Amino acid sequence: MPVSSVELPTPPTPSSTEQGSREGEEPMTSEELLQHAMKAREHAVATFSRFKVGAALLTAEGRVYTGCNIENATYGLTVCAERVALWKALSEGERFFARIAVASGGERPAAPCGACRQLLWEFGGDLEVVLGNAAGVKESHHLAELFPRPFDQRSL
Ligand code: THU
Repeated sequence: MPVSSVELPTPPTPSSTEQGSREGEEPMTSEELLQHAMKAREHAVATFSRFKVGAALLTAEGRVYTGCNIENATYGLTVCAERVALWKALSEGERFFARIAVASGGERPAAPCGACRQLLWEFGGDLEVVLGNAAGVKESHHLAELFPRPFDQRSL
């Protein structure tokens, strides 16, 4: 095996009892997770687009990692809120995820971009994806519905 090869997790499928709850604690609701995303959105660095996004990623054990979009002068090095939350969680050792909430502005809540769908799929599997905007419009999807024919390690 080449030294540089990285072992990618199989898209995880935590049991329903594991999803989003810690022992002795109430499972986090989608609404609560969306509130975390709304709060994270306040930190967005959307200097160029002015389009602020926040994300909150819930682990299978009930921990929450948040992120916001971060733009810079090159434009192309922009990182989406979802990816910031995912990188934070993965870099803290998290590997199993249950749900992500994404908060944005606009009339219709923004859905994750194609690149984020790919990464959420590879590291989170068929996550529940909750979308919300500042006006209180909410949507709920499963990632497999948003990303129906993926390329992943099973394709290699
Ligand atoms: N953006 C996100 O952070 N997440 C999404 O789901 C869609 C787009 C960001 C990237 C960029 O900073 C701004 O929104 C406009 O595209």
